[in-house]
Amino acid sequence: MSLEKKIRAAEKALEFVETGMKIGLGSGSTANEFIKLLSLKIKEGFDIEGVVTSQDTENLAKESNIPLTSLQEAKSLDITIDGTDEVDSNLSLIKGGGGALLREKIVAYNSEKLIIIADDSKKVDKLGNFKLPVEVSIYESSATNLNIIRKLEEVGYYGSSSIRKSENTNFITDSGNYIYDFSLGSIEEPYIVDQLLNSIPGVIGHGLFIDLADIVIIANEESVEILSK
Ligand code: A5P
Repeated sequence: MSLEKKIRAAEKALEFVETGMKIGLGSGSTANEFIKLLSLKIKEGFDIEGVVTSQDTENLAKESNIPLTSLQEAKSLDITIDGTDEVDSNLSLIKGGGGALLREKIVAYNSEKLIIIADDSKKVDKLGNFKLPVEVSIYESSATNLNIIRKLEEVGYYGSSSIRKSENTNFITDSGNYIYDFSLGSIEEPYIVDQLLNSIPGVIGHGLFIDLADIVIIANEESVEILSK
């Protein structure tokens, strides 16, 4: 059932794609459905170049015969299509459940338009039920984690964090960093948390995407809902 919703959201996103576009290709199971549909458009003759946001997406894009480029070559992207872990009514997001948050944010920032595709389980009143992923340099990562906790407490967030694991070892991102996942409860002021995290040395990136999404396509049982700025 959930797969159907992901496909329905991906199909809607495809309507925003035109031949000649340079497209950011997101990561995760919903973005994967979009990539599979995009490959059919390319077979039909669409001239598209993609920029990937993770090694997994690169593997799928190559299998799907999608021509790839880089931000350096493309200069800027027309559109990026990506999934999310949570979205609120301001189109603020928590991303990074799959660990691709850093590259996803870089690609989104370099796109004229960011379109998010999701099923209706991702829509929330307040962000924060999903643990907030923070990508941290491996160098003295425990100290960085403690600094994050201390700084968050100063602005009223008393949460806990855990380093992300992959099987029995620490998860390493595509860019060679650790991820700490923060349970903060309801994030009342995502802007403040965004700026605070950006100011801490050792923090490479985090999963709050504020003022980046232009359109959010939410698939429910029968149809899609479109949220826009
Ligand atoms: C990857 O790190 C994430 O930001 C994904 O975009 C997000 O977790 C959504 O993934 P699904 O589409 O698999 O739920």
